[in-house]
Amino acid sequence: MNPIDKLIKNRKLTKDGYVELLNCIEKDEMAVRITDEAVLLRKKYYGNKVYTRGLIEFTNYCRNNCFYCGIRRDNQTVSRYRLSLQEILSCCQRGYELGFRTFVLQGGEDPYFTDERMVKIIYSVKERYPDCALTLSIGEKTYDSYRRFREAGADRYLLRHETADQVHYRKIHPKEMSLAVRKQCLYHLKTLGYQVGAGFMVGSPGQTYRELAQDLVFLQELQPQMVGIGPFIPHHSTRFAEEPPGSVKLTLRLLSIVRILLPQALIPATTALGTLDPEGREKGLAAGGNVVMPKLSPAIYQKKYELYDGEEAVESMESLARRVEAIGYRLTVDRGDFVPTESI
Ligand code: 5AD
Repeated sequence: MNPIDKLIKNRKLTKDGYVELLNCIEKDEMAVRITDEAVLLRKKYYGNKVYTRGLIEFTNYCRNNCFYCGIRRDNQTVSRYRLSLQEILSCCQRGYELGFRTFVLQGGEDPYFTDERMVKIIYSVKERYPDCALTLSIGEKTYDSYRRFREAGADRYLLRHETADQVHYRKIHPKEMSLAVRKQCLYHLKTLGYQVGAGFMVGSPGQTYRELAQDLVFLQELQPQMVGIGPFIPHHSTRFAEEPPGSVKLTLRLLSIVRILLPQALIPATTALGTLDPEGREKGLAAGGNVVMPKLSPAIYQKKYELYDGEEAVESMESLARRVEAIGYRLTVDRGDFVPTESI
């Protein structure tokens, strides 16, 4: 059986199977079946709904030094900022008025935001907006910290694994970081009952189909509720400044594959896709994505939260809704929880 049939039938492949699949769908006519199947599955579970999450980038300080990332610790050229609790709450207020019912608090690993400070923020947001889901995206923490955040009311956690291949992980991260720790964090988050988001970059330096296959096998194992996939985009003040960006086409194909292996996952059409291609968002939805995450953080800070060059600018909810509707979907404001149904 060819790898496309195998994937559609079994909803999973071996690592070698994924490598074979990725080679096979280099041809556009072969990729169509994968895209069609992904769209079918998304329709089956989510109809034409697209979920919106309000992204609040509340600190660009980071103790880590990931080689690809624009806000890594050693980048002296970034002007650093932190939002106060009041500023975070006013972002939520603005978002709430716009109709958002999910907020994502994302930041670098900033030591200023101790567990105590985070718990206070989480309590305050959930107290004011009990009908909203709160997602954290603040990196690697101890089990105990994750537990405290969960008890304070956090519902979801985004922590991309970035690459599931040990050797590749080493090429793009400094030696004090480890893939084992990252994976452990993801499993801790699952144990604590968070809806968990993993994910990876496409086209990061040194990545081949073998590494991507490893990412897919890892997602199969982890069974996350959310998966963020975006193309790598070089940032001018990193060692990867001269590297080519990841391919939009390959990113879209991976998004479709992930939709097939995790049919009910919440998969965003990422900002990075929208940055490399003016129609990236639409293409991401048409490939099987079902989430968009516009930024709610104040415009003056948005320029400073630059993970890669040319990060896409914000747009109004109206224009976002128009764009989503133009391609046959409907922007929806509900919390958009992952609701597992009978397996198919
Ligand atoms: N290109 C694309 N994505 C990047 N990220 C960080 N740096 C880059 C880059 N240069 C992604 C990482 C991280 C997410 C918040 O942004 O995958 O998890």
